[in-house]
Amino acid sequence: MPKWLKDAVFYEIYPQSFYDTNGDGIGDLNGIIEKLDYIKGLGCNALWINPCYDSPFKDAGYDVRDYKKVAPRYGTNSDLYRLFGEAHRRGMHVLLDLVPGHTSEEHEWFLKSSKEEKNEYSNRYIWTNNCFQPAKGFLYIGGEAERNGVYVLNFFKSQPALNYGFLKPEEDWQLPMDHPDCIATREAMKDVMRFWLDHGCDGFRVDMADSLVKNDDENKSGTSAVWWDVRQMLDEEYPEAAFVSEWNCPRQSITAGGFHMDFFLNWAGNGYSSLMRDYETPGGDHSFFKKDGKGDITRFLEDYLQGYTASKGEGYYCLLTCNHDTRRPRYSLDEQELKMTYAFLFTMPGVPYLYYGDEIGMRYLEVPTKEGGYARTGSRTPMQWNAQKNAGFSTCPADALYLPVDPSKDAPNVAAQEADENSLLNTVKALLTLRHEEEDLQADADFEVVYAKKGELPFVYRRGALLVAMNPSGESVSAPVDAGERKVRFAIGEGQAENGTITLAPQSFLVLK
Ligand code: NOJ
Repeated sequence: MPKWLKDAVFYEIYPQSFYDTNGDGIGDLNGIIEKLDYIKGLGCNALWINPCYDSPFKDAGYDVRDYKKVAPRYGTNSDLYRLFGEAHRRGMHVLLDLVPGHTSEEHEWFLKSSKEEKNEYSNRYIWTNNCFQPAKGFLYIGGEAERNGVYVLNFFKSQPALNYGFLKPEEDWQLPMDHPDCIATREAMKDVMRFWLDHGCDGFRVDMADSLVKNDDENKSGTSAVWWDVRQMLDEEYPEAAFVSEWNCPRQSITAGGFHMDFFLNWAGNGYSSLMRDYETPGGDHSFFKKDGKGDITRFLEDYLQGYTASKGEGYYCLLTCNHDTRRPRYSLDEQELKMTYAFLFTMPGVPYLYYGDEIGMRYLEVPTKEGGYARTGSRTPMQWNAQKNAGFSTCPADALYLPVDPSKDAPNVAAQEADENSLLNTVKALLTLRHEEEDLQADADFEVVYAKKGELPFVYRRGALLVAMNPSGESVSAPVDAGERKVRFAIGEGQAENGTITLAPQSFLVLK
């Protein structure tokens, strides 16, 4: 386990929309380099950058055309190597996004695989034996290729599935996992990983990590075995490299697959969505962090504790403010509610992830789809740096922007919030400073629920020797919790611990030491 993860706080960057330094309306790698000090100043010491490789961008870059080449719109490979170096100079780490389950239909491997004549890449993707033979049980495309067969998709039409084999092959076109051509796919992906790690990258966020082996069993043992093999490679060759899965099942991803981290993803109705996106489920919005939501933290805990317990000591089950696929938390929560939310997310175990712009409470915008984003596009708009032209994101004419900036008069921005002591941005800074100062708030320290009752508040938990108590509601609350000799170490709002009782004013948060 790379030691640096213990005190890591990630900042996710959607490169299209972060900072444009050459005035073409789209963010670039030099823009990320220019903003490293800002990110570090926020308290984030690690980055996850969404795919920045050459791509036709039919799924915003999750359709890779060349795994080893930076997309010209973001810069060059040298820019990316420089970014690694500049980050390291500041004690920061950088994860790239690895997309191992599929490529773009324009990837050279796929073009070769589509040829009728047999070649090295014929089995790199999953094909049936002729174009009238369906790939039953899968999404597939027929009638497009010279090759007489249909091919299996992993996501959109533009994303053919790479072939890691089938756990239990049922048809003659389904190869077993140990077929040399399936092993070759796995080795090709290791080669991609080595390429970037050798150039200074610190690891990967792995896209659809659970999708590799087809006809997998309930436990995803086929896919986990592939990742376990990758983990052996990392341990031997790059012991400081970290990898995090888009999987949302630590029992599989971490324990069986060897990932260091797994995300608790927003799936409608699950424990994570009950924190801030309960509007996705019928029956009114009872999100825990809505002031009047009358939320119930046990909905979160039931789900979270399973993953936490299953992976404790082996890896981290990670909490995110949002990501590029999810509606921004500001969609339904106001600034004060966000302060409570982030106070919670940044004092929990595991490694936290902050999505660019959430630190200022950027809104989810109703904008037309872009590059396969659809409803996700509204969370991918340009970062708002200041109140100047294009919110300081780019000097280009407004109609040349990759996506429109938030047009509202009160659109939040970094410059204004830096100047306001009580802003969300400064609250994020204070929370992350606290986390870096208190080892007991970092990834490893013990976590125990102290007071969590269905439909009641406050919610109190222990991290190491610290007690954390919160009241996201609009009414004062108290609970019979003995904080011992502990004193208030950090507070948002007001509260106290006295005579065996913790009391919290409306929308307040305490760390007791
Ligand atoms: C998950 C990514 O987060 C998403 O943005 C992408 O569209 C799909 N995987 C397909 O790669």
